[in-house]
Amino acid sequence: MLRAVYSKADERAAARIHSIRDARRGARRRLPSVVFDYVDGAADDEVTMQRNEAAFCRVTFRPKMAIGPVEPRLSTTVLDLPVDLPVLLAPGGLIRLLHPDGAAGAARAAASRGTISVLSTVAGSSIEDVTAAAAVPMWFQLYAAGGRSEADALCARAAAAGVEVLVVTVDTPTLGNRERDVRHGVAPPLRVDAHNAVPLGVQVLARPRWAAQLAATGLRLSRRGAGPAGHGQGLLSAVASPFSWDDVAHFKEGWRGKLVVKGVLSGDDGRRAVAAGADAVIVSNHGGRQLDGAPATLDVLPEVVAAVGDTAEVLVDGGVRRGSHVVAALALGARAVLVGRPYLYGLGAAGQRGVERVLDVMAAEMRRTLVLLGCPSVGDLGPQWLGPPAQGERSGP
Ligand code: GLV
Repeated sequence: MLRAVYSKADERAAARIHSIRDARRGARRRLPSVVFDYVDGAADDEVTMQRNEAAFCRVTFRPKMAIGPVEPRLSTTVLDLPVDLPVLLAPGGLIRLLHPDGAAGAARAAASRGTISVLSTVAGSSIEDVTAAAAVPMWFQLYAAGGRSEADALCARAAAAGVEVLVVTVDTPTLGNRERDVRHGVAPPLRVDAHNAVPLGVQVLARPRWAAQLAATGLRLSRRGAGPAGHGQGLLSAVASPFSWDDVAHFKEGWRGKLVVKGVLSGDDGRRAVAAGADAVIVSNHGGRQLDGAPATLDVLPEVVAAVGDTAEVLVDGGVRRGSHVVAALALGARAVLVGRPYLYGLGAAGQRGVERVLDVMAAEMRRTLVLLGCPSVGDLGPQWLGPPAQGERSGP
């Protein structure tokens, strides 16, 4: 792979990232609040988003002491693909607005760290452009507001672009109520009109670096909305996808590779996904962006793992902000985790370099956690490394 060349500004911003909180601060500094809030915000009162993070605060580890030196190994496989780091990049809508590096930069960052990125249907760039620019393997996440025919056409394009794993999101029959976006006057779709032009203009003027970089890519927030190339419609109106299990079975039939169902929150739905042909399920509440009041994903992970058994791999996302959180999720039976906001903050703060930095921070934290636990490898993780959940602690970071 060619060595990436980063701008000095991105290098500087990436060097300031020592934790996911730092990445969030960097993104907040560089992005206009309308874009930052699209990433940072969630549905309604954002209770489920907070619940996701709080669930990790209740985890207690059960370390083994005095076992001598440990050389921690993070490598494993996900759907038979070897990965060096069991942290995948979740699909991110509007990702092109965060930084000109966009989804291709995120995919290159993932590949450079030996992991995988999932391209969203509504990333803001076409499947063909992103896969060609990234030139690394990636997975494709499917929305299709236009039903099966639109979905089939997207799947055919993804397959032709070399994608081997299809991720079908089942938790978005309609879009969650993202009140921060509503307050900015851009939901849905992200569109500039007479009512929001002035406040958005002020935000953009306050973030000249972001504005100049975005302008250089030719992408503009326009009166037609910042729709993904080739969709010709506002971005957020493209996501409402009321899929059925029959649809999932239909997608599996037409897809030559592996299929993953994203958005499972119960053992029953885990079983239904497998019956429809899923090779893996992602326990996910969409980062709290859909049904506010949904449980923390970490809390339902064991139920889904028990229901699915070894008929499919179980992945999880939601609230992962530390390497120790990844270790906890794997101990509870996840094969790997996906992160959304953490890498989107990294991208918003410092482009591809920022995503690399976020992955490096997570990997270092995971290694340190394994050493302190006395566990040599992610493959050895299991419930024996956890104690009873802590009670009565602060409920979130
Ligand atoms: C799109 O998938 C979003 O969550 O905004």
